This record gives sequence, structure tokens and C-alpha cells, in this order.
Amino acid sequence: MIVVQNRITAPAAAAERIEHGFNQNSNLKDQPGFVSFKLLKATQVSGLGQDEVLYVASTQWESMEAFETWRSSDAFGRAHGSGQGGPMRATLEVFEVKVER
Ligand code: HEM
Repeated sequence: MIVVQNRITAPAAAAERIEHGFNQNSNLKDQPGFVSFKLLKATQVSGLGQDEVLYVASTQWESMEAFETWRSSDAFGRAHGSGQGGPMRATLEVFEVKVER
């Protein structure tokens, strides 16, 4: 199992638009090897500007191959097709799971 997260920092003014985008139709659950997804919005983060918001799009996959298949699929392109990237900063994080309870 792996955890792949996209960490998005954006101006607070963009929060509603970002959340709306994530609430659009999704077929993630149909992707082979997909385990789960959560969109997290930080309520406390050191170093975050007062006018900024931090979101983490956190996904779990059965394998890196499953994530990469989705990453290079049309479904990924469609999920990111709103074309309103705006002034976001995005950082990709990939974790292997060491302990799970
Ligand atoms: C420059 C890189 C990226 C940016 C700025 C970004 C931003 C966004 C935004 C704003 C949405 C909402 C839909 C929309 O408004 O288009 C979205 C959807 C999503 N993003 Fe990203 N994203 C990026 C790359 C990634 C990567 C590498 C991952 C891997 C974890 C990821 C995971 C997701 C997921 C899981 C969704 C929901 C898709 C669905 O439910 O079908 N994103 N992203």
C-alpha cells in the first residue's frame, strides 16, 4: 500500500473554487488499485500565511503502478481539466506505509 499526496497552497480567496472542483464528478473509485481518497483542509499549520489555505489531496493505492496508471490516464486529465489552476503551489509526496493498525 502507498500513500500519494498532492499538497496545494493557494490564496484563501480561491478556497471555494478549489473545493467546488474536487466535488465534481469523480470516477476514482473505478480505477484499478485505488484504495481511498480524502481532501484535507488544514485548520492549523505553522508557517502558513493568514491569507493562504493548505489542502492535501491524499490518496491510497495498492501499488505505485496503480497510481502511475491513473496519473497517466484520461481520467486524471479530466479531473484536472477545469483549467483554473490559478496561483496554486502544488507539491507531490509519495509514502510507503510502514505500520498500519
Ligand atoms: C500541479 C499539480 C496539481 C494541481 C495544481 C492540482 C489541483 C487540483 C484541483 C484544483 C483539483 C479539483 C478539480 C479541478 O478544479 O480541476 C484536483 C483534483 C484532484 N487531484 Fe489534483 N492537482 C495536481 C496534481 C495532482 C496529483 C499529482 C495528484 C496525486 C495524488 C492529484 C490528486 C487529485 C485527486 C485525487 C483529485 C480528485 C480527482 C477525482 O476525484 O477524480 N492531483 N487537483
